[in-house]
Amino acid sequence: MRYWLGIESTAHTFGASIISEDGSIISDERDIYVPPEGGLQPREVARHHTDVAPSVIGKAFSKAGIKSKDVVALGVSYGPGLGPCLRVGVAVARALSSYYGWRLYPVNHTVGHVEISRLLSGFVDPLAVYVSGGNTNIVAWKDGRYRIFGETLDIAVGNLLDSFAREVGLKHPGGPKIEKLAREGAKMGLIDLPYSVKGQDVSFSGLLTAAIKTHRSGEKLERVAYSLQETAFAMIAEAAERALVHTRKSSIISAGGVAANSRLNEMLKYVAEDHGIPFFATPIRMAGDNGAMIAAVAMEMDLGGIRSEDPQSLMPTPKLRINDTEVNWRINNFRVIMGDYK
Ligand code: ATP
Ligand code: FE2
Repeated sequence: MRYWLGIESTAHTFGASIISEDGSIISDERDIYVPPEGGLQPREVARHHTDVAPSVIGKAFSKAGIKSKDVVALGVSYGPGLGPCLRVGVAVARALSSYYGWRLYPVNHTVGHVEISRLLSGFVDPLAVYVSGGNTNIVAWKDGRYRIFGETLDIAVGNLLDSFAREVGLKHPGGPKIEKLAREGAKMGLIDLPYSVKGQDVSFSGLLTAAIKTHRSGEKLERVAYSLQETAFAMIAEAAERALVHTRKSSIISAGGVAANSRLNEMLKYVAEDHGIPFFATPIRMAGDNGAMIAAVAMEMDLGGIRSEDPQSLMPTPKLRINDTEVNWRINNFRVIMGDYK
């Protein structure tokens, strides 16, 4: 059996995971930096990653029960992300590749999110709703790349939730806390907040300002959280439906950290049902940043005959979009299996 290692370090999470050639995730370790207060300070996060890298990678090997000689190649997220954080992952990957002779593959983090969700879904060619801290992209594969068929015109939906949470005194990350509050606020009824869909694109900054203002004017936090979620997710669902009609794809998946949200997945499922096609919600563990998504792409690139990178020339690339990267190595009718990592 051959094995692929993936290393993730673009933002809050340092992750390492090993996947075997039958598609099983046989280890998936991560250490997530949580700021003492406020948002992420890139240098602080990078220091955290440097501290935990050896133990996270060590655990990925011991849990997998394999030796270094069993690994054929590794992948590392080289962008997009916070410069200091990216540098840690890239330096570690370069050193491992040189020392052990493993082939090295630079992986676009955003492609990793979409691809792990596709490989878990078993769908060959879905429309992907990629929603995270830094991205709100509705993408589909066309002519050798994931291309953007809808996106946010300002801030990402994860950023919307995190910024609102910070304003009202909740700790980072805000997404899961808002989801919990929203469940309690559902019975209090919807407040009318700015809804902005332009063609296949969405815009969230007006919604953020209005939600903060509404809360400051004395409205209950639960009710604002509920209304914020309902409005933002309905916008995403509408844009996704338009992109679906435009691209004529025959399945939908959610991907990225915000895909952990069950209300968003419920709305996307309605869209899919309306069009008589299947929907796959990314399991929470694989929605947020993780090493498995990087290992999976490295495996696909390696088996797809892509030339590996010279460890000396791999550089972090903080600004990178999903459509900057060629995706001409996808394995169709192949599944990644979470096994014990459900
Ligand atoms: P990107 O992929 O754009 O680089 P990222 O790497 O910072 O973003 P991810 O781990 O992919 O981040 O996603 C983190 C985001 O997901 C945060 O904004 C967080 O609040 C959000 N999130 C996590 N769980 C939930 C949830 N249950 N509901 C809504 N949002 C959530
Ligand atoms: Fe991410």
